[in-house]
Parts: sequence; C-alpha cells; structure tokens
Amino acid sequence: MITKTIYVSKGNSLNCVDTGAGEALLFVHGFPLDHSMWRSQLEYFSRDYRCIAPDLRGFGGSPATAGSVSMSDYADDLALLLGHLGVEGSVTVCGLSMGGYIAWEFWMRHRHWVRKLVLCDTKATADSAEVARARQLMATEILQGGTSIVVDRLLPKLFSPATDPTRIRSWVEPILKADRVGIAAAQCGMAGRCDMTARLGEIDVPSLVVVGEHDTITTPQEMEQMSRQMPHARCLSIPLAGHLAPWEQPAAFNEALAAFLAEN
Ligand code: MLT
Repeated sequence: MITKTIYVSKGNSLNCVDTGAGEALLFVHGFPLDHSMWRSQLEYFSRDYRCIAPDLRGFGGSPATAGSVSMSDYADDLALLLGHLGVEGSVTVCGLSMGGYIAWEFWMRHRHWVRKLVLCDTKATADSAEVARARQLMATEILQGGTSIVVDRLLPKLFSPATDPTRIRSWVEPILKADRVGIAAAQCGMAGRCDMTARLGEIDVPSLVVVGEHDTITTPQEMEQMSRQMPHARCLSIPLAGHLAPWEQPAAFNEALAAFLAEN
C-alpha cells in the first residue's frame, strides 16, 4: 500500500495510507502494530469509502517522541491529520485495542469529527496500579533491551488458536524492527490512561463493538458489558478470532462493518 508522510505539527509527522474516495473511515491500529494490520479493510472499503490509516506516532513509519505519549496526544495527532488531509465532514473512527483507547479520547476531545464509532477488542477501564507498574517496567526493559520482549510476552496472547501460525509469525519482524522509543512511550501512555467507563453513557453516536470470540485480553463478556453502557451500541462476536479480530477474520469483520456503515 502506498503511504505518504503528513506533517501534523512542529517536528511531528505521521506516515499514513489515504486511499479511496467518499465518506471517510479512520482506522487506528493497536499496540505494537502499524497501519498494515488494516490491509484487508483498506482493500475492501476503499472501493466505496475514503480510508485513512496512519501509523501512530512512534509506530511503523512514523517518527517517535521520547517519554510518554498519552492517548490524548495520539488523538490530537489524528485530529490534526484529518485537517491536513482536507477531510470534509465527519468520519467513522475504527480503533483496535490501544486504537480503541485513543478512539475514546478522540470522541471526548474532537467529537465534531465523529460520525460513528467502531471499537474492536478494547476496553474503557484504566490499568490497575499493578498493571500500570508492569507496563512502566516493560517500557524500561524495552528501552534497554529492544522490542524482542514484546514479541516474547505479548505476541503469543494476541491470537485465536484457529489463526494460522505462519500469518502470526509475519508480525515478528515488524515488531523487532519497531522503534523502541516509540513502543516504550506508548506503554507509558497506556499506563496513565483515564478510565472512560463513567463517560460511556455520553456517547451519542451509533457504535459497533466487535470482539473476537477467543479474545483473552479484552474478553467477549467484558466487551458485551461495556457496550450495554453505550446508549447507541451493539456488540458482535467474531467466531475463530482472538484479540486481532479484523486481521484474523477479515471477511466476517468486513461484512459486519459494511452492514453497520450502511445503516443510517
Ligand atoms: C493492543 O492490542 O493494543 C494492546 O493489547 C493494548 C494493551 O496493551 O492494553
């Protein structure tokens, strides 16, 4: 897929795909991936929609900033990106896991941009103190030792047992090559993210909550419960998928997303 570099603010640029024409869909990837996790969606939906899929700051081809990058920093980057791309009207924001954490912030901070929300394999709760500490520790380990610990510790948890191991292994090299500064900054940002649970009732746009039936990181029960707190949401489970449902089962996911987009 052809990507382009967009300078979103002073010293900060994002690598992104911008393909197709019409109503815009903004795809926000999960940790520690990049825009390419949306390849099947970009191919499928660019026939009828303008599809925008950035590499978040410090991921894929987008340069990192050191320290901690908060979910609101990423959300503000996305709002600037849409402005620089000259997007007109509102967009459907589709975020997976960390991309979902960012989608909450995007909705809170830039809701004039949001037509609909698609939340995949994500949650509204913040980290417990213990999980936040573990993330901070992992960020330090990544800065010192590189991203191989992410491959060792996180990759095995992301997928359904039904997903082809050869496809899973295709993520090893990109994660090993990822910028340790960007990956560590995201871990610190996730550790400090806000709990959005109390705000879910405010979300007044149509929302689709999608979860892989084998997702052990953000479970179907947890996501079903979350969607019940969103007044205009429905929850859908994707068979034979884990935490990366759109990537593991693209045909089922695309069909569900197409139906949701077609609704008024
Ligand atoms: C992701 O897939 O983005 C991660 O599982 C998010 C997280 O570490 O909480």
